[in-house]
Amino acid sequence: MTLKVSKHCISSIIRRYSANSNSTSCQPGGPINYAGPMFQKTEQLKSENFPPVQRNFYKKPLLLHQGYMQWLYDHEGRKYLDLFGGIVTVSVGHCHPKVVAAMQEQLKKLWHTTSIYRNPKIYEFVEKLVAKMPGKLKVVYLVNSGTEANDLAVLLAKLYTGNHNIISLQDSYHGCSSAMLGLTSTQSYRLPTPVPAGYSHAMLPDPFRGIWGGCRDSISQVPGSCSCSGDCITSDKYIHQLEEHVINNIPISGAAAMFAESIQGVNGTVQFPKGYLKKAQQLIKEYNGLFVSDEVQTGFGRTGDAFWGFENHEIMPDIVTMAKGIGNGFPMAAVVTTMEIAEAHNKAAYFNTFGGNPLACTAGKAVLEVIDEENLQENCKVTGKYFVEQLMQLQKVYPVIGDVRGKGLMLGVELVVPGTKDPLNASDVVDIMEKTKDFGILLGRGGRYSNVLRIKPPMCIKKEDVDFAVSVLDQALKEFMKTYKSD
Ligand SMILES: Cc1ncc(COP(=O)(O)O)c(C=O)c1O
Repeated sequence: MTLKVSKHCISSIIRRYSANSNSTSCQPGGPINYAGPMFQKTEQLKSENFPPVQRNFYKKPLLLHQGYMQWLYDHEGRKYLDLFGGIVTVSVGHCHPKVVAAMQEQLKKLWHTTSIYRNPKIYEFVEKLVAKMPGKLKVVYLVNSGTEANDLAVLLAKLYTGNHNIISLQDSYHGCSSAMLGLTSTQSYRLPTPVPAGYSHAMLPDPFRGIWGGCRDSISQVPGSCSCSGDCITSDKYIHQLEEHVINNIPISGAAAMFAESIQGVNGTVQFPKGYLKKAQQLIKEYNGLFVSDEVQTGFGRTGDAFWGFENHEIMPDIVTMAKGIGNGFPMAAVVTTMEIAEAHNKAAYFNTFGGNPLACTAGKAVLEVIDEENLQENCKVTGKYFVEQLMQLQKVYPVIGDVRGKGLMLGVELVVPGTKDPLNASDVVDIMEKTKDFGILLGRGGRYSNVLRIKPPMCIKKEDVDFAVSVLDQALKEFMKTYKSD
């Protein structure tokens, strides 16, 4: 396996990539001229009319006005390969023609009814969605965001079990509403206000930073890690910690639920040692709790081997929450559970104005069809594997890459001070990301120390996009290392 990095300078790499991908890169009719407010005007509006907590992602912020499949265009006509998909949300591609056509048709028919009436789209979508769900997971609540989905899942778990306590993992992100700030444990989202009662956070079984290491479901392992066949030996140690946590945090009557992603997204693509989640579910069941799989990032085929991330861990959750990729960018989300659990909710009225909106369901249905018709799950598997292989080659060249991980098109590259596991300074990571953006690729950033490059592109990216991305990363890291001095 060799690194597909070009010897040419970055401008020729960009030129060649743009030329090769031009035939398909434009929306029908070609790239359109920017017609919105001047960049300076957006700066002024941003500082005067938007909350300061919504920070700029880049030093020189991007003003994007057009997208097609895996590409985005800024107000000056520059083209970017989007490797972050609007934060793991653009699943089948920006303005995918089939989704656009379905939405255009529905736009002319009916936008909104509320959930008090029936409309055909909600039935067509739900039928398709439940066909993707295993076991008794056949009852669907349609909501509007991942936060709302998790909030509802908390309620269902409490109602069904009669218990109050909810456990999630350290460094998890499940939303940041006032209630979900209890479930989310990431410090950067913590505010100086009390966290809602009843939530606690168990030790994160992280093969790279965790005290026992471990091996994970990826072709890339932490250097020097174990390589267990079947369950990882460390999973029992982390499970012991989980049991200690449960015993020390919940009453004798038991827990309401444990929430976990099958790969932590916001925390920089942390995968757990093999076998951990399966054993965690068994354990939480012994303490009367439900297991909730947050598939907001890992669902819809992204991990390649399975349609849902939890299937890679051989578990059957009691509740699954999903959002982001479900609508390819159209705001919608869902909670899927069993009839038995949903019946526990039937003690009072429940209402959701927009959940099951005909436009949202049209988007959701078209997305499910495109995933199947274009074999996007398989593409995640094949292209994702190739991506990891290329990143592992880069890791050999640049000791600033401490870890490469993930599966399918859910990948992370953890940047460290060379020769150590100390996280690379946030300002250095920002510099690297600014360079990669200027060279034409958009990456995400995450992890406890904001030092992990997150790669979660629209699931339609191809091998040539990976080659371009790796060339850009190579060039950006080369330039960075020329001037880098550790403190
Ligand atoms: C795993 C996970 N759960 C829940 C959420 C919250 O979703 P939303 O932003 O749609 O409310 C997110 C958002 O990033 C997420 O990554």
